[in-house]
Formats: sequence, structure tokens, C-alpha cells
Amino acid sequence: MSVVTEKKCIARPFLKWAGGKSQLLPEIESRLPQGIKTGEIDTYIEPFVGGGAVFFYMAQRYEGIKSFYLFDVNNDLVNCYNAIKNDVESLIDELRELEGKFHPLTKPKRKDFYYRIRDEFNSDRCTAKLIFLNKTCYNGLYRVNKKDGFNVPSGDYKKPKICDAENLENVSQILQKAEIICGDFEKSDKYIDDKTFVYFDPPYRPLSATASFTSYSKDDFNEAAQIRLARFCRHINTKNAKFLLSNSDPKNEDPNDHFFEDHYKSFVIDRVKASRVINCKASGRGQINELLIINY
Ligand SMILES: C[S@@+](CC[C@H](N)C(=O)[O-])C[C@H]1O[C@@H](n2cnc3c(N)ncnc32)[C@H](O)[C@@H]1O
Repeated sequence: MSVVTEKKCIARPFLKWAGGKSQLLPEIESRLPQGIKTGEIDTYIEPFVGGGAVFFYMAQRYEGIKSFYLFDVNNDLVNCYNAIKNDVESLIDELRELEGKFHPLTKPKRKDFYYRIRDEFNSDRCTAKLIFLNKTCYNGLYRVNKKDGFNVPSGDYKKPKICDAENLENVSQILQKAEIICGDFEKSDKYIDDKTFVYFDPPYRPLSATASFTSYSKDDFNEAAQIRLARFCRHINTKNAKFLLSNSDPKNEDPNDHFFEDHYKSFVIDRVKASRVINCKASGRGQINELLIINY
């Protein structure tokens, strides 16, 4: 039975999100387990969904997958997915209003408007305001301080698309097949069995102590969390689930760093070329290796 459709992916990630995997899709596609194509695998799980580039690709391409479970520890992000899933029309109305107010403003007035919305968002955590901030802030970053206050400065775009109604409607349709859950990646355990494919895209293990960008939430994903994740992968391997995990390759900077060879010993570790964009050092922006680790 062929379950691959040649439909174009029309629903795209609705937020700019650090570490988006669009550029790695061909490498991921060529490594998908056979069961995805034959329909043996019927469940797709993404424990670190972020912008969801891989989820949107999979959900629109493989009709044999019947259940999708998406997790992220970022509450604002999960609320955003659920608002789009459950009431996209109200969200579109709110975004239209924000866009209508923002676009005609002069540069200095736009700045004032941005910081007013940022203050409001930090007390009401309104989803439309999160999308507005994401489209108008510096580099589309999401960064919070220790008190969970969103603190990214304003960006400088000519006419940012704040309300992409067509995409949001397409996204909403796709999300009807998904459950989006806020929490730590280990929460996905109870949904994983031998008919599951799990794609892990955790915050990168920093290439160096100074070049790190891992502040997606107030709880950083530190070395202990990377080790916990490796243990979790070994655990789901014993359940005969299939997984693919991407991460940064520490050997880009230190050829003697064997973290992944040590912690993912019994799995296949491939290195593929990727370009990094979120990094303040120019040396962190070129082509570097990224790791793809698979258990099949
Ligand atoms: C690299 S991003 C994912 C990028 C995404 N796959 C994409 O294509 O845009 C990592 C995500 O993991 C989330 N995260 C961090 N710690 C987590 C944890 N302990 N459990 C689950 N998600 C976590 C972050 O909020 C962030 O959205």
C-alpha cells in the first residue's frame, strides 16, 4: 500500500523559530523509516516541536500516519498551536486589527507600539500578541528572562506580514489531526509504541560555552538534559519505536568531543551540512555539520 501523496505542503510554520528544520527536510526525508511509507507506522511524535517544520511536512505527505502528538515545554508556543487549532477565526480577527494599527505608523511610533504590546503580552500572554511580537521583533527570536518576561527588542521590517490568514487557516486544518501538549519531552513516553516514529529536535548542545543559543524558555536545556534525552532514546528503542534525532555536531569545534558517540553508541550517527543563522559570531554562521542519529 502506498501512502505517499504528492500533494504540495500548503500549511507552513506560522512562527519564526530558532532551529527551524526546513533546510534539513531532504536529509530527514531520505532517512525516514520504511514503515512510514508502507503505513506500518501510524503515529508521529515530536517531543520538541518548536516551529514544527518537520511536523507540517509529515502531516501533509504521509496519509498512513493517523495520530500526531506534539510537545513543547514552552507554554506560550503550545497555547498558540491550540488557539490556531480551536479558534483560528478569532485569532485572525485580532491579528488583522494589530496589523491594521501597526503598518501605517512611523518608525518611532511603531517602536512605541511594539513595546506597549510587549508589556501587555507579559501580563496577559495573549496568543495574537505573541504572533505580533514574533513577526515584528528582532530576528523573530523568542527569549525570556528568568521571570518568564519576553524581552526581545523591536525589529525593523518594512511591511511585516502579521496576519497570514490563509496559512493560519491551512495550519488549523492540519492541526485537527494533532494533540499539542505542554511539557517536558519525557511526557511523550506513554504515547510511544512499536508503531511510532519519533522525531527529536532538542535545543542544540552548544558548540562552545559562549556561542550558545538555547534560551527558548526560562529553564535551559543543559548538559544533564542532553544526557537525560540520550537515556530516553535508549528507553524508547527498547519499545521498538523508531526515532530520528538532530543536534549540533560538537566536532565542528572540538574534534575530541565524543559526547554523541558515547551517549548514542548503539545507533547510526550521520553528519550532514547545514547553515547556522542564529549566532552573534560571524564564524557561527557558515556551513557546519549537523548530526542525524537514527535507531533503524
Ligand atoms: C530546536 S527547537 C525545535 C525546532 C523545531 N523542530 C523547528 O523545526 O522549528 C527546540 C524546542 O524545544 C523546546 N524545549 C526545550 N526544553 C524542552 C524540554 N525539556 N521538553 C520539551 N521541549 C523542550 C523549546 O521550547 C524549543 O521550542
